Amino acid sequence: MDSHFFHFLISHAKTYGFVFPSSEIYGGLNAVYDYGQYGVELKNNIKEYWWKSMTQIHENIVGLDSSVLMHSNVWKASGHVDKFNEFFIDNKDSKKRYKPEVLIREYVDFRKKKGYKNNHKINEILSRLDQSLKKNDFLDIRVLIEELNISDPICGSKNWTNIRPFNMMFKVQEEKGDLFLRPETAQGIFSNFFNVKKSNRMKIPFGIAQIGKSFRNEIIARQFIFRMREFEQMEMQFFILPEEEMKWYEYWKKIRLKWHLELNLGNEKYKLRDHDKLAHYASIGSDIEFNFPFGFREMEGIHSRRDFDLRNHEIFSKKKLRIENSIPYVIETSLGLDRLFLAIFSSSLKEEKLNGNQRIVLKIPPYLSPVKAAIFPLVQKDGLPEIAKKIFNDLKIDHRLIYDQKKSIGKLYRRQDAIGTPLCFTIDYDTVKTNTVTMRYRDTMLQKRVHINKISKIIENETGLRNILKKLLI
Ligand code: GAP
Repeated sequence: MDSHFFHFLISHAKTYGFVFPSSEIYGGLNAVYDYGQYGVELKNNIKEYWWKSMTQIHENIVGLDSSVLMHSNVWKASGHVDKFNEFFIDNKDSKKRYKPEVLIREYVDFRKKKGYKNNHKINEILSRLDQSLKKNDFLDIRVLIEELNISDPICGSKNWTNIRPFNMMFKVQEEKGDLFLRPETAQGIFSNFFNVKKSNRMKIPFGIAQIGKSFRNEIIARQFIFRMREFEQMEMQFFILPEEEMKWYEYWKKIRLKWHLELNLGNEKYKLRDHDKLAHYASIGSDIEFNFPFGFREMEGIHSRRDFDLRNHEIFSKKKLRIENSIPYVIETSLGLDRLFLAIFSSSLKEEKLNGNQRIVLKIPPYLSPVKAAIFPLVQKDGLPEIAKKIFNDLKIDHRLIYDQKKSIGKLYRRQDAIGTPLCFTIDYDTVKTNTVTMRYRDTMLQKRVHINKISKIIENETGLRNILKKLLI
């Protein structure tokens, strides 16, 4: 991992108002983050792009906004109460909790670093670990830790507990019994499946899309906004005929990958990987992985959930959730909004050398940029600020703009580069004579003169969602 770059990224996100640690004045809260003034704009733009590409350009997909709290039977029916577990091992002396497979992989990495040559032995350990993980054989993994004599990385103790399951859901205590904060938005879709179908006369195949918060008690949370306890998902459940399962599974894998590639972050940064270990509800699944600063990791999951959820909700709710007497199958696409934010932020943040100077620039796709354009007067006199302010006021109703005059023009450009503003317009003495302004592009720093009347159209063409959405039409 390029840890220097990762630290620089986290610090840039904070300095420029994208992401702050939650409750920082009280020392922070593990694995919870807040989005600042530019972070929230970027996040909203990502949501709008996803929402429009799912619902607006697919006439058979509609939206939903279901609540975070649901009847506790939802989570019994969905299998989350019994099966949504992660397995951990505790050290009795340090009182620290670890994922057992991480302890073993770190042991192997350490050996390799120290020049340990017996590759056969190393491969044997890793393949035994993989086999046991696939079979959920945590007893064997516990034995492996014992055999390898693995000690606590902090205190060196080998005084381990057994490996135990921990449910990942947060509980909310109520007098009548516990409620849970939802760990996926999907269940709000399943429990409203019939309402949506009936109220909109939907015919199979059709989809329901939703963006919303999910909560998981991630015991080992690292890597900034990659793994959080409170995060946002953008999920879509597509209801189909059972015999068309593979057709739609392949279709959504293709469509979702294309959607990501259109962001232009670099095709080599993506991998589509079939799941070797499926979630309890899935019968087939694959991940779209992204090359984050710490390596390739899951960003979006595409699963076939077959009739797992609707069938179980029928049993628990005793309500019929069928279309013409049969339960549809479901293909799900599930994208982590915060992970996509991190993917965009990390691959757009660049340090560039310019004639001995350096500039930091956030080359975000322009239609996602928090601010679309900045308007500056070249100097703070001779009526230029007034002209600049008038242009800003005329255009702010149509575009997300910034007006700034506090510093020298060079410094104003640098600040907009750092927050990813794709266009800057500077009002100078020629503006007074010719009604033209200097337009500067963030990425190339090229400048040209344009007429004041053209500014709005240029911003729309260069930064609107329209062009990218058009590319998604098939
Ligand atoms: N409904 C299916 C589902 O929830 P998942 O693979 O557990 O599947 C889907 O999660 C996506 O949600 C992941 O691909 C990831 O992008 C995001 N995600 C999951 N846990 C997360 C966490 N702790 N922090 C941030 N994003 C997370």
